[in-house]
Amino acid sequence: MYSRFARPLLFRLDAEQAHHLTLRGAALAGQIPGLSTWVAGQLRPSPALSQTLWGRAYASPLGLAAGLDKNAEAVPLFTALGFGFAEVGTVTPRPQPGNPVPRLFRLPEDRALINRMGFNNLGSGQMARHLRQRRHTPVWVNIGKNKDTPNDQAARDYVDGVRALFRVADGFVVNVSSPNTPGLRSLQAAGELTELVGEVLSEVRALRPALPVLVKLSPDMAAEAFAASVEAMAALGVSGLVVSNTTLSRDGLKNARRSETGGLSGRPLTGRSTVLIAEAYRLSAGKLPIVGVGGVFSAHDAYAKILAGASLVEVYTSLVYEGPGLPGRINAGLLALLRRDGFGHVSEAVGAGVRTP
Ligand code: FNR
Repeated sequence: MYSRFARPLLFRLDAEQAHHLTLRGAALAGQIPGLSTWVAGQLRPSPALSQTLWGRAYASPLGLAAGLDKNAEAVPLFTALGFGFAEVGTVTPRPQPGNPVPRLFRLPEDRALINRMGFNNLGSGQMARHLRQRRHTPVWVNIGKNKDTPNDQAARDYVDGVRALFRVADGFVVNVSSPNTPGLRSLQAAGELTELVGEVLSEVRALRPALPVLVKLSPDMAAEAFAASVEAMAALGVSGLVVSNTTLSRDGLKNARRSETGGLSGRPLTGRSTVLIAEAYRLSAGKLPIVGVGGVFSAHDAYAKILAGASLVEVYTSLVYEGPGLPGRINAGLLALLRRDGFGHVSEAVGAGVRTP
């Protein structure tokens, strides 16, 4: 249905216009009494896909990645589509417009997107209001800093995000890996990251200690820097890592828009993010839950990330190409792959591809 009817129409529009139209439609559909609950009931994942993480049930390992619902406008519907969780944001303390348009580009031959949105969002106060709505899964909030906040005061923005949202969030993701906020990625270096995330952790522990705090990393760090950051985060006691954000690499792209500035997502990121998941799993000796994200289009892609060590997996770009039926299809396909390989439960497969006997 989506690829025959909706996608051809949406792809005739500018990518960001299509995005806003879809989001508006999803937000409206979520307001229809009983609809999202009915959809959630139809798409309930098999118990074999359910895991308890940080004291909460995650009905599927598949979640919605950050950046699609930046202001938590369509949470009732998005959390009903068969996902086990959703990540909203990135949200900053104060509203900001982001970069000038155009800032989102489709590369269909590459099954990819390039974006330089620049944390356009309505601010944490507005998000807190939106998050009073019904949800069918845990919802994490991805927090960032305002563009005009200098890096030496960045921690204050992240701590502000926690203070504004701890009552309505089911977890936080510290985003230091967007390529579209100048200087942000330099906060990922082990020393800076330890200081920044340490402050966030102290705040969460003081306000609502049960909430998980994860850190989202870029795929573009040098191997040693990546290892140092993963080890520093494990030592600090974060709840998990999200691997990875978009890449600045442009390897192997066909579409002429490959020279647009911004972060690349989708199929070209599949292999790189899976390699980094395996590396993070190895570096943390399998003790730190990893959320794998980057170019997951199918159950096979999600399964590869789980075997590499991801406890959870997220999607964004594939939803644009494959539509809202994708989470249900991935859940069904994952179950079949687990059965094929003799796993009774998804948790048994986590890291099974990289674990040494
Ligand atoms: C993103 N992503 C993103 N990540 C984040 O932490 N905060 C954000 O605000 C955004 N915004 C955003 C906008 C757009 C248009 C895209 C395509 C992506 C990154 C996203 O969450 C994910 O890490 C990457 O896109 C890789 O996953 P996919 O898209 O290949 O499944």
